[in-house]
Amino acid sequence: MLEIQGLHKSFGGLQAVSDVGFSVQEGEIVGLIGPNGAGKTTVMNLVSGTFKADRGSIRFMGEEISGLPSNKICHRGICRTYQIPRPFYAMTALASVTVSVLNGGHRPNMSLFDASFEASYYLEFVGLFAKRDTLARDLNLYELRMLELARALATVPKLLLLDEAMAGLNPGEASRALDMIWSAQEQFGITILWIEHVMKVIMAAAQRIVVLQHGQKLVEGTPKEVINDERVIKAYLGGRHVVH
Ligand SMILES: Nc1ncnc2c1ncn2[C@@H]1O[C@H](COP(=O)(O)OP(=O)(O)OP(=O)(O)O)[C@@H](O)[C@H]1O
Ligand SMILES: [Mg+2]
Repeated sequence: MLEIQGLHKSFGGLQAVSDVGFSVQEGEIVGLIGPNGAGKTTVMNLVSGTFKADRGSIRFMGEEISGLPSNKICHRGICRTYQIPRPFYAMTALASVTVSVLNGGHRPNMSLFDASFEASYYLEFVGLFAKRDTLARDLNLYELRMLELARALATVPKLLLLDEAMAGLNPGEASRALDMIWSAQEQFGITILWIEHVMKVIMAAAQRIVVLQHGQKLVEGTPKEVINDERVIKAYLGGRHVVH
């Protein structure tokens, strides 16, 4: 479904992503892990069209998407969430998801009434229906992450890019969020590329994991292969990010 080859991106003199290649098959959950600054978010920014790659190819459903603007990429079915939630803080949860419904590209002529009805469905799905009239700025972090998920789902993605969907959540919330992501995958038939530092979560969720270090792909394999790989233990797991 997604095939990345020879991807390069530098910022000034810094090579943030260097010759990265991997693929994601339809229906999979693929984890993208690695130390801080490894280039994970940059890869996601390139796939979603936030940044343009210096070199390399990103093919989605058999077509080259590298260089397309992010709204075009969203319309083709790739949507993302952000490491730091970016809601419209002065909007209610319902208005925020309604904007996504209208911008997703699948309902060009939908009325505001119908869009907000559909938005309610996504809020209900993530458990936020009771908070539909709450301003995003008054939601807690778990609720904000669920709002991000609802906004992403409302664009009807085929491929969902999650950037640290669990960051800052306590273990109970993380477990609820994981269940939610699993049910989203089941209900909407989406494929997921997921950046995550919470090892327990990504080990449980992903079928395959790609490990980045210094902008390059270090290892790729099943969670079991990756967690037992000497290079990954040395570069990542042995350091700050202990498996818990
Ligand atoms: N817009 C930008 N301008 C300049 N440098 C950037 C930009 N975005 C990322 N970088 C740099 O590129 C490198 C990779 O950053 P990136 O955010 O992709 O890492 P990451 O793997 O997502 O890290 P983290 O786990 O901390 O989120 C870092 O050195 C970062 O400082
Ligand atoms: Mg990041």
